[in-house]
Amino acid sequence: MHKIGLIGAGRAAAHLGQALVALGEPLVALGGRDVERTAALARRWGVAPCTPVEVLARADWVLLAVRDEAIAPVCAALPWAPRHVAIHLSGASPLSVLDAARAAGAQVAGFHPLQLLADPEPTAAAARSALAGICIGIEGEGEVAGALAALARRLGAQPLTLDGAQRAAYHAGANAAASGLLAPLALASHLCAEALGLSPDEALRALMPLAHGALKAASERGLAGALSGPVARGDVPVLQAHAQALAARSQPNDAALYAALVEALLPLAAQTGRLDAAALARLRGWRRKPRLKAASRAARPRSA
Ligand SMILES: NC(=O)c1ccc[n+]([C@@H]2O[C@H](COP(=O)([O-])OP(=O)(O)OC[C@H]3O[C@@H](n4cnc5c(N)ncnc54)[C@H](OP(=O)(O)O)[C@@H]3O)[C@@H](O)[C@H]2O)c1
Repeated sequence: MHKIGLIGAGRAAAHLGQALVALGEPLVALGGRDVERTAALARRWGVAPCTPVEVLARADWVLLAVRDEAIAPVCAALPWAPRHVAIHLSGASPLSVLDAARAAGAQVAGFHPLQLLADPEPTAAAARSALAGICIGIEGEGEVAGALAALARRLGAQPLTLDGAQRAAYHAGANAAASGLLAPLALASHLCAEALGLSPDEALRALMPLAHGALKAASERGLAGALSGPVARGDVPVLQAHAQALAARSQPNDAALYAALVEALLPLAAQTGRLDAAALARLRGWRRKPRLKAASRAARPRSA
């Protein structure tokens, strides 16, 4: 069985290390920059606290759990050998950040948990539940990719094959699903704060059950199944009233963001099957000004 070493003692290392130990995986060494924190984590896990160089002496699979921008310099400073597999945990970084290990004959791979790992000191139960049921993007060749996929499964996660050429698009998707959700929430809380005379935090608290409800519905019924509100109903006058209210505000970006959000929902409205072709056509033209009725057109004075 491969001996696993961890370099870095931050949030990702704390979760992976804790979960690996709880599963009885052969984690043999932890090498962090912060000596006290590294010693405390290593003591909890019953593994050896050491320097990154010593991690390579003890382990053959080496997880580089350092911040993205530190992966390449940390990797370049280590004495890799052909028996090693250098593995980074980044969603955004290409495998070329591990070129120094590759040049020394080591194999390289990526192992990216699609999860927010925020707690710097999770309990064993918290670490395992943070990783169980998630997906882990894996980039690597042959046996290494297979072995990492097996490790992901033992952690209770589902492995996904990552193609290096698609990494930026993959990571953009991951970012949109995480911090991207905060943009409409920021817009929503400011709009409701102004409308209700609340602080943005109070407004956010008032809106959170709606956001949780939408996410719950999406995970249970899919995106189209979770769609509700004026877009789902094809209610163009309500959308136009929203646009008017936003146009009257001083922040022009708010109106543009709201319009972009409505546009992004239009394909979902079509997928619901609840609107007929005419209603969908009206919905797609929601930004067009309402047409004047024939009577009022006739009453208009003709230009010379
Ligand atoms: N946290 C997440 O939600 C998450 C999820 C998926 C993947 N990841 C990936 O996991 C990796 C680690 O992220 P993280 O969230 O655990 O970051 P973090 O909590 O900020 O921890 C980063 C660790 O890297 C160490 N480090 C930074 N620069 C270093 C250097 N030059 N030399 C040696 N050690 C250095 C830090 O040491 P100091 O404490 O001394 O600065 C710290 O132990 C990243 O590639 C990230 O993309 C994170």
